[in-house]
Amino acid sequence: MRLFVNKYPDYNIVNLDKLTYAGNLSNIADIADAPNYTFVKGDITDIPFIEGLFAKYGFDSVIHLAAESHVDRSITHPLEFVLTNVVGTVNLLNASKNLWKGNMEGKLFYHVSTDEVYGSLHNPEDFFLETTPYDPQSPYSASKASSDHFVRAYHNTYKLPIVLSNCSNNYGPNQFPEKLLPLMINNILNEKPLPVYGKGENVRDWLYVVDHARAIDDVYHKGKLGETYNIGGFNEWKNIDIVHLLCDTMDTKLGRPAGTNRGLIKFVEDRAGHDLRYAIDATKIMNDLGWKPSLQFEEGMGKTIDWYLDNKAWIEQITSGEYQKYYDDLYANKLA
Ligand code: DAU
Repeated sequence: MRLFVNKYPDYNIVNLDKLTYAGNLSNIADIADAPNYTFVKGDITDIPFIEGLFAKYGFDSVIHLAAESHVDRSITHPLEFVLTNVVGTVNLLNASKNLWKGNMEGKLFYHVSTDEVYGSLHNPEDFFLETTPYDPQSPYSASKASSDHFVRAYHNTYKLPIVLSNCSNNYGPNQFPEKLLPLMINNILNEKPLPVYGKGENVRDWLYVVDHARAIDDVYHKGKLGETYNIGGFNEWKNIDIVHLLCDTMDTKLGRPAGTNRGLIKFVEDRAGHDLRYAIDATKIMNDLGWKPSLQFEEGMGKTIDWYLDNKAWIEQITSGEYQKYYDDLYANKLA
């Protein structure tokens, strides 16, 4: 959002967000008063509200990133994922189709999705390509796969101009501390146990959030209609290795003796149905749209840790109350 508002002063950008538990307007306070920016609080599953919003603003394009995104929550609350990710997406597709009926020229519905739709890789030589068959394994990835299918179905059936991208794990400032990196950073700061699922052997491909935003900019402006673009950092890490790197870097930054933070690691019960490895082949977006990641991982990680160290009040504000209750419930057995 910040990238688009700052880079495109001539656009009229409307940011629709339900502001559920992970949403936080303070994350983008710096653009709140920009003349090309309007914030609207609302729910993408609310049909009359969405119809009214589309009628009011007459959008030329939609960049759809609204989603329930956390795998652990999808295991405990699958229906919420179906409602927001599937029903919400179809509601936005319908509103776009109705608004653009008869004149689809210059219009675009862009669905920002995840690499988890491709399932789990078991052969070390394999990568997710845009042609890899969908094989979602968690309620979260099943909901995102379903929404991707609906987007393509609207292209095929109603000729809705669409484009999709499927991205790997993001990290960076302002990430809600339920995801691996901010959760570990927060726990290291507070000298709490670091819950590593299973043996920590699962592999993820990490991309700095600003590089994802740059890729979205490229796909939105240069992507070919009907196409899908995989976005990733060619940056695979085993969970335990990334946790070790975090621990060691934060020992130095916090002035703790070497090895102190590693002592907080606790191997806990594995995530149900835990996908072993995700790895994106991002050749298509690099060759066709000229995108490439700008940050080396160690640099991005350093910037991320520094951001959390400099913004302790931000973490404290969001990790009180509801968060604490959720976290305590989730880990009650695992950390006992
Ligand atoms: O691949 C893209 C996806 O990446 C996005 O579509 C999802 O919205 C996003 O949540 C992320 O999914 P993951 O499940 O890979 O991310 P998460 O940060 O939850 O977990 C990363 C890895 O770390 C995963 O193998 C599970 C493990 N893990 C996670 C947590 C929260 C732990 O070992 N301990 C933990 O406490």
